[in-house]
Amino acid sequence: MQENFNQIQKEFDKDISQVSSLNDIEQIRIKYLSRNGIISNLFDKLREIPKENKREFGKSVNELRDYITNIYEIKKKEILSKSSQESSKIDLTLPANQIKIGSKHILTQTLEEIKEIFKSLGFSVFEGPELESDYYNFEALNFPDDHPARDMQDTFFISKKFLLRTHTSPVQIRVMEKNKPPVRAIMPGRVYRNEAINARSYCTFQQVEGLYVDKDVNFSELKGTLVSFAKQFYGNDLKYRFRPSFFPFTEPSAEMDITCFLCKGKGCKVCKNSGWLEILGCGMVDPNVFKYVNYDPEEYLGYAFGMGIERIALLKYGINDIRIFFENDIRFLRQF
Ligand code: DAH
Repeated sequence: MQENFNQIQKEFDKDISQVSSLNDIEQIRIKYLSRNGIISNLFDKLREIPKENKREFGKSVNELRDYITNIYEIKKKEILSKSSQESSKIDLTLPANQIKIGSKHILTQTLEEIKEIFKSLGFSVFEGPELESDYYNFEALNFPDDHPARDMQDTFFISKKFLLRTHTSPVQIRVMEKNKPPVRAIMPGRVYRNEAINARSYCTFQQVEGLYVDKDVNFSELKGTLVSFAKQFYGNDLKYRFRPSFFPFTEPSAEMDITCFLCKGKGCKVCKNSGWLEILGCGMVDPNVFKYVNYDPEEYLGYAFGMGIERIALLKYGINDIRIFFENDIRFLRQF
């Protein structure tokens, strides 16, 4: 019998010497010390032992259990402290790896802001195609054939009849064709111009067109709407002026200027010493345009306006080169 105890002890010594993880130590507990483990089975056997040997057998089992339990506990502590030392190798005071979150491009933010302001003034939003026909881009906007006004905008022609739209004004025609007055809409979108690329112009950019047609619409409402927009966008202390201008699709036409962001009106290189920078074109819809969309020019009046989103953003943030918007230099984009 004693031999048997010695064998169990030897086996235990071997098992415990191989323990290296919390899982190993748990396996030892299950094998020797659990309810169905070796020690427990030995105690069960006590019943079958003849009376005269019971005392001795019981003593030996107790000794074996104490031996195993002691060594088991020591080893368990050792393993536990080792694993906590390992986890403390992670320095929680170090700054965490930064997760870089993307953000909206400054032009997207600008367009969203413009849209919100006009929506609050009662305008809905429409869009039209970038590939346009000569009819929508020029003819229905009262640009007569071979009229020099067509040269105002250098055009990418796709064919004789089709082109990349040079402005968002053709969407005015599309909106009026589909809707009876009153119409109050803004029309944002991408436009294309066959122009030399430099700090001030690019071959593609975005515009927002505006249109309001109703029974009696007048120029002072147009001014009121645009001034309200500009003040909300640039701030209440904004200074502005309207200058007479020419567009084939509006009569009378005007351009709106605001004080130069750089010199605050004193005159500098950016504003060509005038103190003013143009932000948009506008005017009362030319009655000829109404004829193309079957609106009665005797009954309806309208105003329209158009602005370049890049330009609007350049002026707000004091940026002096339009190309920077398209370079996607993360150092520039992160500033907004
Ligand atoms: N379409 C013009 C351009 O691209 C801008 C413009 C001027 C739009 C006057 C208008 C307007 O609706 O009334 O230069």
